[in-house]
Amino acid sequence: MQPVLADEHSLALACEHLAAGRLVGVPTETVYGLAANAFDPLAVRRIYTAKGRPDNNPLIVHVAGSDQLPDVVDWPLDAETGRLLDAIIDLWPGPLTVVLPRARRIPDEVTAGLSTVAVRIPKHPVMQSLLTRCGFPVAAPSANRSKYVSPTTAQHVVDGLGDQVAMVLDGGRCSVGLESTIVSLRPSPRILRPGTVTAEMLAKRWGVPAASLLPSGAKSPAVDEPAVLEAPGMMLQHYSPTTRLAFADDATSSTKGQVGRIAFAPLPDSRLTEYAVVRVLSQSGDLMEVASGLFAALRELDQLQLDWILVDRCSSDGIGRAIMDRLTRAVANH
Ligand code: TXA
Ligand code: MG
Repeated sequence: MQPVLADEHSLALACEHLAAGRLVGVPTETVYGLAANAFDPLAVRRIYTAKGRPDNNPLIVHVAGSDQLPDVVDWPLDAETGRLLDAIIDLWPGPLTVVLPRARRIPDEVTAGLSTVAVRIPKHPVMQSLLTRCGFPVAAPSANRSKYVSPTTAQHVVDGLGDQVAMVLDGGRCSVGLESTIVSLRPSPRILRPGTVTAEMLAKRWGVPAASLLPSGAKSPAVDEPAVLEAPGMMLQHYSPTTRLAFADDATSSTKGQVGRIAFAPLPDSRLTEYAVVRVLSQSGDLMEVASGLFAALRELDQLQLDWILVDRCSSDGIGRAIMDRLTRAVANH
């Protein structure tokens, strides 16, 4: 299977597939998604099978604009939820997902039976065109096999799920490169998954301290306990390449052999000979660029039959929080 460049014809075909209950790989600005008609429970069930995803892990529903919110959430929102949403609505379309009370029309298959639904208005022009054209909301998790690294190119989707989809729409390389920030609003606003929409950006809009949106140190291990799981996909074991992965500054004498290195900024020439391959994600250490290229670099190096991949660390604030969140999970698997 080959990805298909998005144009009028391929967008129309993608809508036909979705309307008929088939799965389509779709570009968004964060990562590629594995899309199904969110109103079609059988189509949504195919997503779980295709990914090998546990059926207790709910999906994100994508709509073209806020005028479609009443189709997917329990409308009208209560006054406080409405106020909290209004304060951040300017971040849509974009890499932000908001957990809201669910409309009855959304099938249990989408929400894994929860009373809430995670909603996103994506910015990618291809996804925008697709959603506008289809008219129905689209449920889409990241288009990777469960537990593998999320895809940031159409080819990544073909590599992992090519035999599971009717087509893959090619919208180029994802500009953001990390999955959306997920927030829940009630009982009080909280970040369930950090992303490039940062705690600081959200805190400013809500007029609260950024720290109040983040799990406290004592609370965070509980996220791994299924019983109290709020974003059930946020289990520690996630997102990891097959090759053993470690932070470069944790490397020991056992991290040897053929070693690949993912650096956030150029390494001194003297260090280059230590590695079989080096990928530098930014010439200036810019964390937006690092986020954008990170998953592609992990996938690329994972193809090279290395003994280890060593990756840089960054400070866990701003966008760095999302980068370190994904890397900490990936490293924890090894
Ligand atoms: O950037 C993204 O969000 C991408 C693109 C395709 O939109 N999608 C994505 O989906 O990352 P996925 O399925 O890989 O991650 C969705 C996360 C999971 O951790 C899931 O548990 C959480 O969203 N989630 C979905 N519905 C939820 C709900 N009602 N309450 C809390 N968390 C929810
Ligand atoms: Mg995912």
